Amino acid sequence: MADLGSNTTAVLTAADVAAVVRSVGVDQFMDHMIEGVREAAKGLDPESTMTIERGGFQYEKPSLGLVEWMPSMELGRAVGIKTVGYHPSNPIQRGMPSVMATTSIHDTANGRLVALVDATLLTAIRTGAASAVVTDVLANEDSRTLGLVGCGAQAVTQAHAMSRVRPIDRIVAFDADPNVAASFASRLPVSVRVDVVDSAADAIVDADIVCVATTVDIGAGPVLPMFGLKAGVHINAVGADFPGKTELPVELLRNALVIPDEVAQCLKEGECQQLTEDDLGPTLPELVQNADSFTAWREQLTVFDSTGWALEDLIAAEIVLGHATRLHIGIHTELQHSPLDPYAPYETI
Ligand SMILES: NC(=O)c1ccc[n+]([C@@H]2O[C@H](COP(=O)([O-])OP(=O)(O)OC[C@H]3O[C@@H](n4cnc5c(N)ncnc54)[C@H](O)[C@@H]3O)[C@@H](O)[C@H]2O)c1
Repeated sequence: MADLGSNTTAVLTAADVAAVVRSVGVDQFMDHMIEGVREAAKGLDPESTMTIERGGFQYEKPSLGLVEWMPSMELGRAVGIKTVGYHPSNPIQRGMPSVMATTSIHDTANGRLVALVDATLLTAIRTGAASAVVTDVLANEDSRTLGLVGCGAQAVTQAHAMSRVRPIDRIVAFDADPNVAASFASRLPVSVRVDVVDSAADAIVDADIVCVATTVDIGAGPVLPMFGLKAGVHINAVGADFPGKTELPVELLRNALVIPDEVAQCLKEGECQQLTEDDLGPTLPELVQNADSFTAWREQLTVFDSTGWALEDLIAAEIVLGHATRLHIGIHTELQHSPLDPYAPYETI
């Protein structure tokens, strides 16, 4: 957890976050994140833990993209704000990730910035963890084959997270870019058979669990075909997080139990924009809080509409900060102005 008592700001760079994950162990860190998301969902009290709709700027120049902010608050303790950029041309044109993020944490006693954390890796890990929490309730215990559509950064953590909650021994992977599909196995932290195929239809046909994480263009979906899924499959739909951007056919959604992570956001930006509120199943927290009554759905088609829940980002930052403090990783710096006389703004110059 962020150190609310101190006068300094904890800063964790990308290298610091990587050092923490390396020291903890990538599997253990993923497990810790899965447990963090599950516990937060289980104990969620909307009176004391709040998220508000994310906002931001979307633009087409100089390249198609957006910068958004995702706020959450634990009343009486801390506010977390993740700022996140999404620029799908980044990997090919700039050699940078499509999704890049930073999380700041503020003390609600005084507004002070207590921590600033690179959240690019953390976003990928917490997105995998959220899928794992839902998958653990809704996928058959014996799910062994994972179908992946989209083999970029999020697909790596989806596959890793799936392997932490189910005995995955085969991944069937498709990406619109054959080079990305070809390098997928080399980017995984687990050793598992990966078969690269030529279409989304081929990726899903044997799958017990499907994860879809593409940068499909606005209006260009769906990415998955309507037919060809095995009975009882669970789908984690990760890529739809923008108005007009969808990955699943509406008929598929209508035949499934659909779990939104955040209802208003999913209706605006997720797969749920193709549905109405009446069509939706339990939210992620409702699912976890009533997990036993939903395991019967393991025999049926279920979909997690993952758009990204802001509380996941506060949890992720606090988990990494907790480990960083224990491991003495990162710096504490007097980033913010703090004159001895609070009425004298020029005192320190
Ligand atoms: N739900 C969440 O919380 C969350 C979090 C982070 C990112 N995302 C979203 O997940 C998506 C993937 O992000 P990423 O970081 O993996 O991006 P990435 O650029 O690393 O990878 C995306 C891959 O999708 C492939 N692709 C695009 N269209 C395709 C199609 N029609 N069929 C098959 N493959 C296709 C691309 O070739 C690319 O390799 C983005 O849309 C991003 O906004 C969601």
